[in-house]
Amino acid sequence: MLGRLAARAPAKINLLLEVGPARPDGFHDLLSVFQAVSLEEVVTVTPAATFGVEVRDPQGRPVPGIPDDPQHNLALRAALAVRAGRPELPPLHLDVVKEVPVAGGMAGGSADAAAALVACDAFWRTGMGLPGLHPFAAVLGSDVPFALHGRTAVGTGRGEHLVPVMTTARFDWVLVLGEEGLSTPAVFREFDRLALEHPPTPPRRDSERLRAVETALRAGDPVSLGAALANDLQPAAVSLQPGLARTLEAGREAGACGVLVSGSGPTVAWLADSHRHALDLAVLAAERFGPDRVRTVHGPVPGAQVLEAVRR
Ligand code: C5P
Repeated sequence: MLGRLAARAPAKINLLLEVGPARPDGFHDLLSVFQAVSLEEVVTVTPAATFGVEVRDPQGRPVPGIPDDPQHNLALRAALAVRAGRPELPPLHLDVVKEVPVAGGMAGGSADAAAALVACDAFWRTGMGLPGLHPFAAVLGSDVPFALHGRTAVGTGRGEHLVPVMTTARFDWVLVLGEEGLSTPAVFREFDRLALEHPPTPPRRDSERLRAVETALRAGDPVSLGAALANDLQPAAVSLQPGLARTLEAGREAGACGVLVSGSGPTVAWLADSHRHALDLAVLAAERFGPDRVRTVHGPVPGAQVLEAVRR
């Protein structure tokens, strides 16, 4: 029997996020291009008397504001989903090391769930693999399937139907983290309120904006990708946190190839044209917003995977 097993899963940036009108179930149909980036969550599972979860930052400090009960914690819900109908499997304790900002629009909670799915499947030897885990992922949250698969992909539906996008290039980003989180449902509600004046049309797979992003990705060209970045949730995020407009403007002034709010925000992503350029932009961002709020990342990176397994 294993004594412990660790798995990782990445955060994401939405390079494109087209949002349709609210559906009868309250969700919105999306057309999204996700890119997995080099901020990650690590979930370590160990056998325990009962299920439980602890969330810490990379320095080992507890992270406040994350539920630890099995109804709400996404990593615990993922573990319980894999164990459903198999009471013989031993309960696990989950230790989460969180690099991804909480309520930041980068799918950190979804990465916890994806890492937990992969860790539990490997620990218990349930043998589901990615195809078997995908249906659980889609039920846990709209962004969990992408955190499982990683790299760069077009997502449709709630974001759970994924098709990989071919790109061999590496893209370098500077992230400016928000001072306070934004609730995803609140941003979608604000989107609906703003949509009363400008009703959105359902996203279409033949969208010109999608073609522009795919062409730039295929060419590996950060300048055209920067021009093609678009997020329909950005006006709603800026409406709830008007200071985001300054963070976007600061990126443009600093010479980023493109800037946008990631997902429902409030993380703002500045696209650089090289690693060197990202380091220069990060210096400017740190002077303006403080080093604690700035991260330099690159993408695409792989989806959820096992890091290590240790025997007892
Ligand atoms: O699926 P997930 O739990 O991540 O979604 C969080 C919330 O974001 C949903 O409850 C819904 O309010 C909103 N949402 C949406 N349409 C989507 C995805 C999320 O309205 N496609």
